[in-house]
Parts: sequence; C-alpha cells; structure tokens
Amino acid sequence: MGTEYDTLMQAYEFCRKQTDFRPKVALILGSGLGALADEIQMEATISYADIHGFPKSTVEGHKGRYVFGYLGKVPVVIMQGRVHYYEGYSMSEVVLPTRLMGLLGAEILFLTNAAGGIRKEFQPGTLMLIRDQISSFVPSPLIGKNMDSLGCRFPDMSEIYRKDLQRIIMETADSLHIPLESGVYIQFTGPAYESPAEVRMAGLLGADACGMSTACEAVAANHMGMKICGVSCITNMASGILDVPLSHQEVQETADRVAGLFKALVRESIKRMGDIV
Ligand code: HPA
Repeated sequence: MGTEYDTLMQAYEFCRKQTDFRPKVALILGSGLGALADEIQMEATISYADIHGFPKSTVEGHKGRYVFGYLGKVPVVIMQGRVHYYEGYSMSEVVLPTRLMGLLGAEILFLTNAAGGIRKEFQPGTLMLIRDQISSFVPSPLIGKNMDSLGCRFPDMSEIYRKDLQRIIMETADSLHIPLESGVYIQFTGPAYESPAEVRMAGLLGADACGMSTACEAVAANHMGMKICGVSCITNMASGILDVPLSHQEVQETADRVAGLFKALVRESIKRMGDIV
C-alpha cells in the first residue's frame, strides 16, 4: 500500500507508544466546543505537532491535540481541533486523524461542527442532529488506492448516521429539555462562505445546513466500519436566507452562546452510548 497508509500506520505506532489507552468513542469538536475536552477525566494528551506526517490546524480557536479520558465510564478520545480541506491539505490528510482514532479502538465517531442554517425555521443557536449528508461537492477521501485493511473499495453509504445513535441523542435531548432539530448536512470546501445562489441550490438538493467539514470525516469513518453520529450547531443563517452579511465573529459568538447546551448534549449522549459499545 502507498505512503498514505504508511504515514497512518507510523502515526498509529507513535500514539500507541505514548499511551495504551483504548477509546470506545471518538469525538471531534468543532468551533467553540473545544472546552469540552478540558472537562473530562483526562488520562493522556498527544499534540498533533508531535505526530510525524500529521496535518496541523491553522484555524484560530482550534487547539491541535488528542485528549484521552473518560466521560462517565466511557473511554473516549477527543480531537480538540480538526483540520479542514480549505487549509490546503489533501482529503486523505484531512481524514488521517479520524482514521487514527478508529485504529486506536474507537467504534463510534461523534461529529460536531458549526454550520449555516439553510432551513428557514432554523435560527442561530439551533442544534441539529445530522440525519444524512451530501458530500458530492468535495473530493472523496477514498479516492486513490484503496486501503484494503481499513475497508472495501465501494463501501455502502445507506446509513452513514446510525439510527440507534440518533435515537440516543434524541432521547438525551428530550430528557435534558434541550430543543433538537434534525436534518441533512452539506459540505462545501470553503473557506469563503457560500453565495446566496449556492445556498438556494443546496436547499433544493435537500440540505438543511451547510459547513466546511464533517462529511469527509464521515465518509472515511464509514469506510472503516465506525458507527457515526453528529450534531451541528447552527451558528448563523446561511448566506441570503437573511439580508445580513456573514462573519466568522457571528459564528464564534453563537457557538460560545450555546456551548453550554451543546456540551451537555454531547457529554450525556456519549455516557449513554457506553451501553452499546
Ligand atoms: N457556511 C459554511 N460554513 C459555516 C457556516 C456557513 O454559513 N457557518 C458556520 N460554518
């Protein structure tokens, strides 16, 4: 197999030397959510910068490290900061950290992100359970020689976001009295926000929220058989839905405002997932 696979295996061996911790759940924290990693019972951390061949996050507000520890009784690995395609990495580099968490033992991948709301009923601050995704506007991380030891050449994508995990998140939201919508997430490359016409197109295609991450990670994790779930924080209405310009500042402010609820939902849902892994 090619060098991408070698890089992944070297990264795996490096991490195994740092810690023998075996996570069951992997969690990727999007904008504004990073603080959740500081709240867990921490067992070990590994900086991305120390892992040879690892992409480095260049986005402000994204710390670059894995945090290993427990949420309740559930062993987790958290990516405190992710890398994005728009930072200039190949898709295969972008998903390397996700694949590595699968190799380290994680059976469930919990994805989170900040997203623009396309569905008109959404508001900044709405939390959206991801039911399905559209990744057709970004390159697939599976392009190239197939990594046979991870998964097959033509993986099924009929239930990327597992129904049993969706149910747990919905029940958790209910019991915590956290309002939760659900919908389809579409990934664009960024880094520019979409034009109003692109947002209208995405809505016609069936998307409820748009962003610049997540779907590619789900494609890679689905390929290697991880069980996937995800929640988006609608930080702003997507371009053209309201008559106001978009700004990264609005994204950050909304993410900060709902971080408490978002963290509670993620934390409690993962604790409940302990029973199925
Ligand atoms: N578009 C794309 N990505 C985003 C947005 C958006 O409106 N908001 C937060 N991330």
